[in-house]
Amino acid sequence: MSDKRIAVFPGSFDPITKGHEDIVLRGVRLFDELIIALGENENKTYLFDKQQRLKWIEETFRNEPRVRVVSYTGLTVDFCAEAGAAYMIRGLRNPADLEYEKVVAQANQKMRSEIETVFLLTQAEFSFISSSIVRDVLRNGGDYRQFVPDVVRTQGSELK
Ligand code: PNS
Repeated sequence: MSDKRIAVFPGSFDPITKGHEDIVLRGVRLFDELIIALGENENKTYLFDKQQRLKWIEETFRNEPRVRVVSYTGLTVDFCAEAGAAYMIRGLRNPADLEYEKVVAQANQKMRSEIETVFLLTQAEFSFISSSIVRDVLRNGGDYRQFVPDVVRTQGSELK
């Protein structure tokens, strides 16, 4: 591990939301470098392809020199180790998130005890926002723009 305090913020980001943006902007203040890592969730099929999701994340943080954006496959803890990151950030919106995240963090801790999961509580104003809510609003022609960073703009034709 390097001397730099590096954190990985993993997720599907399908698409990135204002909740994700807030976690990154608060998280980056705690670390020397924050790597936003686009991973694969076995249980999900994605609406937006990987390149589109990466592009939106990159554009959202183009003015944040300590934020990097990458994609990876395999276990998130293995990616953290390869990246020299000792911390993994996850956002918590509600008790259901905590129940789920607790199990994942404990499994991750068993696999690689040197990587610490750090939970950041979502700000109240964003706590109802999820990528799945955004996708549902989008699919049904609603105004999704209030839930996502300004750079996320899409045409109906992109929707599957
Ligand atoms: O935004 P998401 O969908 O909650 O992100 C989930 C993601 C991609 C971070 C998670 O599914 C993941 O870590 N996938 C890689 C496999 C892994 O490490 N699973 C956790 C071990 S129990």
